[in-house]
Amino acid sequence: NTERPIVIDTTKCHPVELPKGARATNCCPPKPVSKSNVIDFKLPRPSSLTTGLRIRRAAHLLDDAQLAKYRKAVELMKALPDDDPRSFKQQANVHCAYCYGAYSNGKNDYDPRINVHRSWLFFPFHRFYLYFHERIMGKLLNDTTFALPFWNWDSLEGMQMPQIFTDQNSSLYDKYRNLNHQPPKLIDLEFNNMDPNITDQQQLLINLNIMYRQMVSNSKTASLFLGAPYRAGDEPMPGPGTIELVPHNSIHRWNGDTRTPNREDMGVFYSAARDPIFYPHHSNIDRLWDIWKTSGGKNRHDFDETDWLNASFEFYDENAELVRVKVKDSLDHTNLGYDYEKVDIPWLAAKP
Ligand code: C2O
Repeated sequence: NTERPIVIDTTKCHPVELPKGARATNCCPPKPVSKSNVIDFKLPRPSSLTTGLRIRRAAHLLDDAQLAKYRKAVELMKALPDDDPRSFKQQANVHCAYCYGAYSNGKNDYDPRINVHRSWLFFPFHRFYLYFHERIMGKLLNDTTFALPFWNWDSLEGMQMPQIFTDQNSSLYDKYRNLNHQPPKLIDLEFNNMDPNITDQQQLLINLNIMYRQMVSNSKTASLFLGAPYRAGDEPMPGPGTIELVPHNSIHRWNGDTRTPNREDMGVFYSAARDPIFYPHHSNIDRLWDIWKTSGGKNRHDFDETDWLNASFEFYDENAELVRVKVKDSLDHTNLGYDYEKVDIPWLAAKP
């Protein structure tokens, strides 16, 4: 048998070594009641069904009722006890554990360690992560139609931190953010720790060109867009896809607080998901995966390799039960019960 899909067992979690200056944190998830209770994932709805989808909307376009609901969801999640796997704290830890080497990818105990970034696991891992996060929120709200918003930073009006995150009295607020990057400051999609000295108009055009370059010109194949193959036993981070590097990573850095040791929260993986804006940021990344696949070109489709399709992760679901998922079940997001509000895609016409 030469197949080598990565299979992650979250019950074997090892303390991670955090960067210098980070407050000690245990990123490992609470133990399941029993490992034999891990549920194999089932798609929540038949693909033939086109009604009843959760619709993810652009964060800057939420109406008052939608915003109130979203704030409430985060509030309820933050109010859960810390050892509940659905609590906001544990949800943030999921990212820390998967992204900072808490799990093993080898025969020797923790060598090599797993990192779901900079490889073909990047898009499917984060899709599932948000999927469960969103369902937990829906359950807390008692609303099965609840959907996470997306930070539409690839649109003209979305190229700044959405206002809804700036209210200090809101559950969406995080105090570890870059104070120079509050709205209406325009985002630099290629931010590299220095604010460029250009006009908003210039920044806007540059951003559109970046999007075109990363989504179209430089991502003509699966590995260019999704990232390099990564299998059981491999060293982590074989190579990121275009979008993961820019703007995904740059937006993380752009949000991170320069007064903290490692640009916490968003600017470093172990703490990134402690900022509520993490999830709408990734919702947009997830949306771009779909746009990439449906934008034409004969090689713009997912991998068909079994090592990718059968790679598996574990997440706690809305009932606090541990579920084992496989990449193959993530490929069509409508099978997962959600879709994106259609918005203009200005960069499609921004060929540099
Ligand atoms: Cu797991 Cu935006 O990173």
